[in-house]
Amino acid sequence: MSPGQQAQPKLPIPGVKNLIAVGSGKGGVGKTTVAVNIAIALARLGFRTGLLDADVYGPNVPLMMGMNQTPTAVGERIQPLENYGVKLMSMGFLSPGDKPLVWRGPMLHSVVQQFLRGVDWGDLDYLVIDLPPGTGDVQLSLIQTAPVTGAVVVTTPSDVSLEDARKAVRMFEQVKVPILGIIENMSWLQCPHCDERIDVFSTGGGRRMAKDMGAKFLGALPLSPQVRIGGDTGHPVATFGPEDKRGADFYAIAKLVVEGAAEASSVAGPTMTVSD
Ligand SMILES: Nc1ncnc2c1ncn2[C@@H]1O[C@H](COP(=O)(O)OP(=O)(O)O)[C@@H](O)[C@H]1O
Ligand SMILES: [Mg+2]
Repeated sequence: MSPGQQAQPKLPIPGVKNLIAVGSGKGGVGKTTVAVNIAIALARLGFRTGLLDADVYGPNVPLMMGMNQTPTAVGERIQPLENYGVKLMSMGFLSPGDKPLVWRGPMLHSVVQQFLRGVDWGDLDYLVIDLPPGTGDVQLSLIQTAPVTGAVVVTTPSDVSLEDARKAVRMFEQVKVPILGIIENMSWLQCPHCDERIDVFSTGGGRRMAKDMGAKFLGALPLSPQVRIGGDTGHPVATFGPEDKRGADFYAIAKLVVEGAAEASSVAGPTMTVSD
């Protein structure tokens, strides 16, 4: 599929009120970290939340969410797993280990559709979708067939990351998915010895890019060893709650996502409802 192709009807996911896509131009910029922590924050704030790992080639959600069980099926419907109050589905649960998956476009398309519509998500306020990096088949399959409420684009402040993030923003714009905002991740490092701020990947580019592209800036996140450790140990910083300094930034961003999603839905009008 290409962005220029005839649009297919965007059928709602029964029971799911808001679909939030988290995308980026490049890999390694912190997309999964942001998706996981925002999902946990939304759940802790009282919203019914799911997290769909659409990065079928590099599914990191199981590791970051500390889950590695195999989901069961009831009838035809796959039952999502759940941790930290978030319902979860990932290719990593179905094909664990380090065997690479080799799939072509049409198969990717059907996996994405299966994850969206063949999983028993139940009633959700937010389904957060962790997209693979870039602007490929998975992204297009998803945003052309599901009514994505809005997209969050993650970038680092380096020029190479920003260049690719702009493409991701353009991709969403082309298929009429509202941009909820830009996050600048790995924005700076606070030296633990002298407290000096080191701009490892430059700084401020995310904010400038948001301004240039008419998008909201959702915030800058510093490089933090605790964020990395949280991801690697399956205990993301947002699990420490909104009052804890280690994960507070993600709660601030989650609240902006809630606001942005409400604005985007009111512009788009009431969503169609279909029964199962
Ligand atoms: N703000 C941050 N501070 C420290 N480490 C981070 C931060 N954001 C992400 N990381 C780490 O960087 C690596 C890549 O992040 P990840 O979320 O997997 O990126 P992506 O999904 O874009 O490929 C992971 O090891 C993650 O823990
Ligand atoms: Mg990722």
